Amino acid sequence: MNRFEGQTALITGAGSGIGAATARRLAAEGAHVLVTDIDEDAARKVAADLPAATPLRLDITDRTAVDRLIGGLPALHVLVNNAFVPFVDDPDDNWHRQLHGTLLGAVHCARAALPHLKETRGAIVTIGSVNAEADFGDHAYSAAKAALGSYTRTLAGEAAPHGVRVNQINPGTIATPSWAGREQALATLGARAYPLGRVGTPEDIAAAAAFLASPDAAWITGTTLRVDGGLMAVNRHFREILDGVEDA
Ligand SMILES: NC(=O)c1ccc[n+]([C@@H]2O[C@H](COP(=O)([O-])OP(=O)(O)OC[C@H]3O[C@@H](n4cnc5c(N)ncnc54)[C@H](O)[C@@H]3O)[C@@H](O)[C@H]2O)c1
Repeated sequence: MNRFEGQTALITGAGSGIGAATARRLAAEGAHVLVTDIDEDAARKVAADLPAATPLRLDITDRTAVDRLIGGLPALHVLVNNAFVPFVDDPDDNWHRQLHGTLLGAVHCARAALPHLKETRGAIVTIGSVNAEADFGDHAYSAAKAALGSYTRTLAGEAAPHGVRVNQINPGTIATPSWAGREQALATLGARAYPLGRVGTPEDIAAAAAFLASPDAAWITGTTLRVDGGLMAVNRHFREILDGVEDA
């Protein structure tokens, strides 16, 4: 498939995990990929293996840099809002980083990209989380991801008359470097929590992001697509309890 031939796609946090896999997928389908990350070396390593890619340093929390880089592009067809600001222990600091980084960073990227996307009738895909929908820990991260889901819907309404589509993916647990050192936890979660018997791969999310960004999703906007191996739809815990109870 060459769904992105002649198109430019910018991915934030593309030096690792889901962002890197999405960069590989969009490049394999013909896009020129702007591989952006706060870690420029990581962006460079990912871009080096792609047929047409440009590595760029971009900190999504730096609004001036976001406006300068995205605003200064000659054209843009796809924005994948993927980066998130990692957790810290101090609760006040964590709330600040999640709301001003994970949430507002993605908002600033979308606002900077919108004028280009109106020209190209392009698409935004934002990577949320199942944390937006249920309790999997971290209040601030969950609130930021839930707010991104709301922003996806309201921005979709504003952008639709211009032919721009805006969608979100809420992944379940994905085996990326953010889970480094927790391999046993991932294996156990895969076997016991996930109906499809495993946690996700970055490529599972990249495939969904490519779909939502492509003309195959031409009539899809304002939606949040769970890509979670059935986690949220199937209550395994409930079934196990019920199956374990013997009534007289
Ligand atoms: N891995 C999971 O289990 C999981 C589950 C649900 C949702 N997600 C979401 O998927 C996305 C990617 O997660 P991942 O697991 O691939 O993460 P990752 O840690 O592998 O990669 C994140 C990248 O973001 C970059 N980054 C950090 N701060 C940045 C900033 N201020 N500006 C720009 N880049 C920055 C990092 O340098 C890193 O390269 C995130 O939005 C995350 O919330 C991940």
